[in-house]
Amino acid sequence: MDLTVKKDFKCLNGEIFIPPDKSLSHRAIILSSIAKGRSVIKNFSKGKDPFSSLIVCKNLGVNIEEKDGFLFVTSNGILSKPLCYLDCGNSGTTMRLMAGILAGQNFNSTLIGDESLSKRPMKRIIEPLSLMGAKVGSDNLHAPLNILGTELHGIDYESKIASAQVKSCVLLAGMFAEGTTTFKEICPSRNHTEIMLKNMGANISCKNNVTTIEKSELKPLEIDICGDISSAAYFIVAALVVPYSKIIIKNIGLNSTRCGIIKIVKQMGGNIEILERKDVCGEIVGDIKVEYSENMKGIEISGEIIPTLIDEIPVISVLATQCDGQTTIKGASDLRNKESDRITTTVSELKKLGANIEETSDGIIISGKTKLNGAVKVESYKDHRLAMSLYIAGLVCKKEILIKDFEWVNISFPEFVELFEKLK
Ligand code: S3P
Repeated sequence: MDLTVKKDFKCLNGEIFIPPDKSLSHRAIILSSIAKGRSVIKNFSKGKDPFSSLIVCKNLGVNIEEKDGFLFVTSNGILSKPLCYLDCGNSGTTMRLMAGILAGQNFNSTLIGDESLSKRPMKRIIEPLSLMGAKVGSDNLHAPLNILGTELHGIDYESKIASAQVKSCVLLAGMFAEGTTTFKEICPSRNHTEIMLKNMGANISCKNNVTTIEKSELKPLEIDICGDISSAAYFIVAALVVPYSKIIIKNIGLNSTRCGIIKIVKQMGGNIEILERKDVCGEIVGDIKVEYSENMKGIEISGEIIPTLIDEIPVISVLATQCDGQTTIKGASDLRNKESDRITTTVSELKKLGANIEETSDGIIISGKTKLNGAVKVESYKDHRLAMSLYIAGLVCKKEILIKDFEWVNISFPEFVELFEKLK
């Protein structure tokens, strides 16, 4: 389905609730599945990616029921041999986290993915899992992954990339391994797995980028999943760039390993404020107020902040086209390994709209402020985050734009257009 971004509004105004966090939804269903007892998950994401995790867990014998907006997950803490291939769809998080769990089971399993996921690198998990004694077959270090369940042993692993998926994979394998598993990362990636495991009673400790875990039995989970900062990012940028806009985004996860976008919007001179904060199951949650900000400035975005805003870089690039001066994004080469090569696809599509934007090997350079043109067709490359970022660009284009294959937003955010209509 192609979508035309209409110019039928003046500004964005009002209060919205953003749908539940995708990363937390994956972890809630996966960790509940290996906990003994009945877990209750309120506010599970309606995105296709978390649904892939749910179906994989069901195919491993876990009982999952939905009633009145709650998911009830009943498990005896032990998974059963699947009778089919475990289909992770488009979801890297499903494949990489489940590989960690399945490596230490007493049965064999096969994880498959769609065309995009089958092109994404799996060496980053196969390598540490193999060091733990795992037996993972692959298609030249890509999915499908054939996992021969076996006994694992703990390792001391130092990862060269700051990836929460790799970290979570190793920690989850560590839950089924003999001895202690230690994971060290070059700089902090999102830590939802660690927080949730700790809340569920795992034997886990974290200090200075080093996490240690031992075999543990998990207690069932009770969680109310907060709004997704990565989905809120599109609304934050839209309100900053569309004149006269003022919105409040309610109940958003503000974990410091996720909200680099808030820091950089402040540095760029954007009008953004956190209204209230509370602790929900170890995660910080709050409301965000954002207003149109006319005089934002380009900045350099690099170093330790990159993993905390990795999924927001396409929409931050849109924002940078509306800032005065140069924005330089560096040290983000892993963007090339996402649902599309997000360095190349973001640059090529924003260029079509008239942006002054160039790619580098590990990032993007944008010069602004540019009045974007429109009256063109852009590609989403079947990448949900690129599709939504282009929609935001479309809001400030002189003319309408057409985005190809817009239905891919359903991967993380099926409610996207409906929520925008509410604010118009
Ligand atoms: C995710 C981690 C990030 C992120 C992805 C979700 C997660 O990937 O890009 O959208 O839920 O753990 P990496 O761990 O590969 O950086």
